[in-house]
Amino acid sequence: KTIADLGELRGKRVLVRSDFNVPLDGSTITDDGRIRAALPTLKLLTDAGAKVVVTAHLGRPKGAPEAKYSLAPVAARLGELLGTTVTLAQDTVGESAKATVAALSEGEVALLENIRFDARETSKDESERAALAADLAELADAYVSDGFGVVHRKQASVYDIAQVLPAAVGELVLKEVDSLKRATEDPQRPYAVVLGGSKVSDKLGVIANLLEKADRLLIGGGMVFTFLAAQGHSVGKSLLEEDQVETVKGYLAKAAERGVEIVLPTDIVAADSFAADAPHDVVPADAIPDARMGLDIGPESAKLFASKLADAKTIVWNGPMGVFEFDAFAGGTRAVAQAMIDATAAGAFSIVGGGDSAAAVRILGFDEASFSHISTGGGASLEFLEGKSLPGIAVLS
Ligand code: 3PG
Repeated sequence: KTIADLGELRGKRVLVRSDFNVPLDGSTITDDGRIRAALPTLKLLTDAGAKVVVTAHLGRPKGAPEAKYSLAPVAARLGELLGTTVTLAQDTVGESAKATVAALSEGEVALLENIRFDARETSKDESERAALAADLAELADAYVSDGFGVVHRKQASVYDIAQVLPAAVGELVLKEVDSLKRATEDPQRPYAVVLGGSKVSDKLGVIANLLEKADRLLIGGGMVFTFLAAQGHSVGKSLLEEDQVETVKGYLAKAAERGVEIVLPTDIVAADSFAADAPHDVVPADAIPDARMGLDIGPESAKLFASKLADAKTIVWNGPMGVFEFDAFAGGTRAVAQAMIDATAAGAFSIVGGGDSAAAVRILGFDEASFSHISTGGGASLEFLEGKSLPGIAVLS
């Protein structure tokens, strides 16, 4: 069901689950991409005259209020983007939430405080989650699931609530699913996937799945050192998941067997320490000095990766190539972003997935419109690419 299937919405209270889990520096939002991505659904609902109640989480508080995880900065930014005041209830489903919702007029938006301040949200106990869903349901007449970044979580405001209220899928989730399907169902070839980020262990499922589907797998970021170690190279002080080396060896063997090209960096930017101003050099990927740590792929590798993306027709990128937050180690991430933009201009379908790579694209100043799709999902987009059923989507059908 889409929002249109919910019928007449004028005067109805509509609960929207959004993903406003944005990066913060103190109380400053450093990337508001997830908030902007939520606007189409919210505008659709306010234009229809609904009283919009948004619920969302921020970070991983331990089931009780914590000031640093308050959604106050989000309410302020959302209000700016919508050009209206967004009232933040002081609690999740308590007296403040009830009063805030009761005071809403048609076309107005309120935000409930961080839903993970209520321990029942993430409880493994179904009856606890159901109790929170019942409390949420008292605040609304219908539910719209639009927090794509959280649809892989079986949580009260994502999953259980959809079984209680008339439920529909929001514009963001629809757009995400349409785009990600182009990479999972019969992708145009060559299909290249760029994987980065810090941990191989976070990406095990997706790598195994991609070995069945992709033509090329380009590996960078912190996880690449486990690949280099699996090839027998020493990686100095670089990030290494020793317990994943054997698994990675298995991936390399499977890729060879299936004719999937695994592209690893040939040079690495290696630094003395993890710091923006750390002394650093470009070294061959198979000769990282013992006292150094790799913080980015090198310039030769950046060219190699770009060449492997140039003729691709479908490209998925998840995870930065290096510590892009430090300018000295942003070169690889910049090069991959630019190569994707060039390939997109030449007709490829390109998806940037994962909170970090999407933020990297924006923080490094690239134009989001130069990519076919920038996903708001981190774990959710990975699980989608893995082919897993996502509870927050499955419950709607
Ligand atoms: C994310 O940032 O990927 C989503 O908001 C989900 O957050 P979680 O991993 O804490 O459930």
